[in-house]
Amino acid sequence: MNNYDSMSDEVAKLVIAKIRKKPASVLGLATGSTPLGVYELLVEYHENGVDFSQVTTFNLDEYVGLAADHPQSYRHYMEKNLFAKVGLERKRTHIPDGTAADLEAECRRYDELIRSTGGIDLQLLGIGSNAHIGFNEPGTPFGSETQVVDLAESTIRDNARFFASADEVPTQAISMGIKSIMQAKNIILMANGGSKADAVFAAVKGPVTPEVPASVLQLHPSVTVVVDQAAASRL
Ligand code: GLP
Repeated sequence: MNNYDSMSDEVAKLVIAKIRKKPASVLGLATGSTPLGVYELLVEYHENGVDFSQVTTFNLDEYVGLAADHPQSYRHYMEKNLFAKVGLERKRTHIPDGTAADLEAECRRYDELIRSTGGIDLQLLGIGSNAHIGFNEPGTPFGSETQVVDLAESTIRDNARFFASADEVPTQAISMGIKSIMQAKNIILMANGGSKADAVFAAVKGPVTPEVPASVLQLHPSVTVVVDQAAASRL
């Protein structure tokens, strides 16, 4: 894709095609800067008549310790950028609860919930500059299910731009595991910008290794990689 807009356009079309084919689709959703353009386009499609009322969503991850109404929580991000604007039934929007008293139980609950809906039809993924997917940092075993993770120093630095300072970035998150992600029926990996070029190259062309979490996608039967020119510059 030439640029961010064409990447977003392509991904939004794929999501809408899935919803039109199966109105009760289960979507796996990502946060961060990368999917913002896709969400804007989904809102436009909704305004032009696409019905999201039967769609179920599962987000990849949430910071530990941030309540739903915290401005940097992923629940808040999703409300602001998508949920409130496309008529999604809130009871069908799922994000791990980073404030749960028993975080381990919350992780088990989340995987069970995904299974009970029949699994994710289409999972959107961004990629960290260290090739993380969700918040599965380098070294995460491929067999991992939803779990509490310690964020890498580089991730805390990357995400500090959303907070007043790096000190305010939570050091832990709940993330869908690599295995949980790989169980999605279809996956779209998105990336834009030169800061992702090394991660995209390692994910797509490098060896499949837990040191490069996104490289596991090479083992999935249905992955679409949609990247802009800058992110594809090493391919
Ligand atoms: C974040 C999220 C990931 C996201 C990635 C890239 O920390 N946990 O789900 O894909 O890092 O973020 P961005 O799109 O802002 O570059």
